[in-house]
Amino acid sequence: MVEDTWKVVYKSFKPKEETLREALCALGNGYFTTRGAAEESVAGKYHYPGTYLASGFNRLKTEIAGKWIENEDLVNWPDWTVLKYRHEDGDWIQLSEVEIIGYRQELNLQKGILSRKIRIKDAKGRTSKLVTRRIVCMHNKNLAAIKWEFTPVNWSGNIIVHNGLDGSVINHGVERYRDLNSKHLVVLDTGTMGESGIYLKVRTNQSEIIMAQAAKLLIDGSSVKPIHKEKLPEYIGEEFEVGVAAGKPITIEKIVSIFTSKDNAISEPLMEAKTLVGRTLGFDDLLEKHIAEWKGIWKESDVKLEADNGEDQLVLRLHIFHIFQTYSFNTIGIDAGIPARGLHGEAYRGHIFWDEIFVFPFFNISRPEISKSLLMYRYRRLNEARYAAQEAGFDGAMYPWQSGSNGREESQVIHLNPASGRWLPDHTFLQRHVNATIAYNVWHYFEITGDLEFLSFYGAEMLLEIAKFWASMASFNKEKGRYEILNIVGPDEYHTHYPGSDQPGLNNNAYTNVMAVFCLIHALKTIKKLDKEIAAVLLEQLEIDKSQLKKWEEIIKKMFVPFVGNKKVIEQFEGFDKLEEVDWEKYHAEYGEVLRLDRIMEKEGDDVNRYRAVKQADVLMLFFLFSSDELCDMFGRMGYEFNPKVQIPETIAYYQKITAHGSTLSKVVHSWVYARSRREESWKNFKKALMSDFKDVQGGTTSEGIHLGAMAGSLDLIQRCYTGMDFREDCLFFNPRLPENVQKIQFRIRYRKHWLEIIVTKGKFEIRNRGGWGGQIHITLVKQKVSLKKGETKILEFHHKSTKKKGA
Ligand code: BGC
Repeated sequence: MVEDTWKVVYKSFKPKEETLREALCALGNGYFTTRGAAEESVAGKYHYPGTYLASGFNRLKTEIAGKWIENEDLVNWPDWTVLKYRHEDGDWIQLSEVEIIGYRQELNLQKGILSRKIRIKDAKGRTSKLVTRRIVCMHNKNLAAIKWEFTPVNWSGNIIVHNGLDGSVINHGVERYRDLNSKHLVVLDTGTMGESGIYLKVRTNQSEIIMAQAAKLLIDGSSVKPIHKEKLPEYIGEEFEVGVAAGKPITIEKIVSIFTSKDNAISEPLMEAKTLVGRTLGFDDLLEKHIAEWKGIWKESDVKLEADNGEDQLVLRLHIFHIFQTYSFNTIGIDAGIPARGLHGEAYRGHIFWDEIFVFPFFNISRPEISKSLLMYRYRRLNEARYAAQEAGFDGAMYPWQSGSNGREESQVIHLNPASGRWLPDHTFLQRHVNATIAYNVWHYFEITGDLEFLSFYGAEMLLEIAKFWASMASFNKEKGRYEILNIVGPDEYHTHYPGSDQPGLNNNAYTNVMAVFCLIHALKTIKKLDKEIAAVLLEQLEIDKSQLKKWEEIIKKMFVPFVGNKKVIEQFEGFDKLEEVDWEKYHAEYGEVLRLDRIMEKEGDDVNRYRAVKQADVLMLFFLFSSDELCDMFGRMGYEFNPKVQIPETIAYYQKITAHGSTLSKVVHSWVYARSRREESWKNFKKALMSDFKDVQGGTTSEGIHLGAMAGSLDLIQRCYTGMDFREDCLFFNPRLPENVQKIQFRIRYRKHWLEIIVTKGKFEIRNRGGWGGQIHITLVKQKVSLKKGETKILEFHHKSTKKKGA
């Protein structure tokens, strides 16, 4: 049982776990995020301080094996947290070098505070108490602050306190990227200001983003004259001598302001940073407003869960916390996408992938303004996607698999297999299904919000361009009498080519083909939704004529989907079923449940492409994204008979056995697909998805950045999956089915103009129309239609069938 479901607590200092905790305890406000590395820590074996800015990218070239390659990184910006102390006669205190008598680190999710209570003894027997608190202000995106309370327990004397801003940082957080160039910053200016105060101004060496940081130090609430200044080419610091007496606490506050050239409403970043620091009173003043801002977030977006133990609740809240720290109201207007690994580390270079399909559901029902901002990130890159399609010989828009600053393809061309030490070609960029993700997100944002204005002026354009792309990618195979999509890669990244072939790409990935059909159907639906005049103008602008629309209908009717021999199980791609079998027992025994078989096999001189092994849910994505009714409808339109009662369970059973869960996204999907038929299995998978980061299930990846898809996916399982919440045809549906272990689920949503609160317990469903701008709302609970006026609550009983097998 956890002490408090709002607090992540660590009761001892464990150097080896520090980098993981630094990612889990990162603080951010959607504008920038700073890892939870202790103020006095230094980047090295045990620590990796890092500060990342939403959309703060820079490109660098590196020569690898005689070839120049270019990568775009999420830049690690100057470390603003530097704060350390020493005894007059001693070295700077480092926790790994002193005797720790007491230690407690706490991340308060409710208030957004990272704190530590430490008691240490030095070699001379001097015991000191240090209480530290840190915030990255949610109420003002340009501010952060640290407060220390220092108490000498059994001694009196002087300490030296050092306050610094470190611009010498590089991107060094991911071991396998370390052969690549990593120095992104040029220091433009450093200096001091006022009686005490420091500043640093840097610029990225390619993207030319300027960041200015200004900091002041207050001792017992006042500014004090420093005794020493440290001005190095890439570093600025000040030192203060402070007299302390046994048993008497003193406070040290560091107030920091950060501005960049990407900010709105500024003159020049350094001037703004200095001004804001000057105007800021102190830590406590900021704290109050910061807490109030978080209070507002939690009020609307908390997801309450009563289940096995408080840990489930705690971790769900940790996920909400990190989602908002990565993307909040502060991010709206910044032109940022949502990075797959948060702003918490350097893995995947802060790039934006299809993972957003797992993140949108949370924002759609909780903060649709954020969903819209994410879609606008894509919209602004539509021209780049058009260019990419044209270059590849297609029509419409082809969005990149990995997106960064300007929307060009940022996937790496070669990657290092850390298991073998070899650099290998990377063809995962052929995951064109990312385009369907964007279309799916546009449509679902619209379904939930009814935002016809967005659809009319932005969403439709993306959807139609994506539809054009699929229509041009689909080629007619006369023998099959069907359309095919060739030379692509599906979500399962273990397979990027056919065994023995030196050409990358696979044919007819079922997920991609069905998603392409989804896009075409919804592009046609969108045209009907739009005002006739707007639709006509758009079609003309996008050069979509009647014959093109006819072709779309034709492709929908004749899209090819592969099935294995029994014609029931959907085949991942053409030829998948004929691949060789893996000796799963051997690999699981040696490497555990979660496998990076691609890396392991390459190290062994083998190739995972030869085998029937799946990195992560691929075909099963279809059962995650669509209800069986929707699937029946789509397969029906394609001219396939689809019997969900037989084909869904058989397809799940086929892939379940051969999935290595090499991506944290996989468990989310596996939990979802079992939710109706095998609730205990669903819950087991939910727990795995839930603990992906908290327990670092992949053994070391979380310290390089959280997995936002799995974090948001675990919330989605509670909110949409177990309540059976669905938004279709202008209606809101519920069909709850709680896992045995769940006693209660409670959360708030915004659906169109209605603000609702939902409480589901065993057999009982409660819905409150708690406000908003809409009047009466109609919902469907299981098959019962219910209407609800503003202010009204309805309690409905529903039948809860057990899915436990007899005797289980
Ligand atoms: C997964 C992808 C995912 C990416 C970023 C990869 O390991 O296979 O599906 O988009 O990580 O999270």
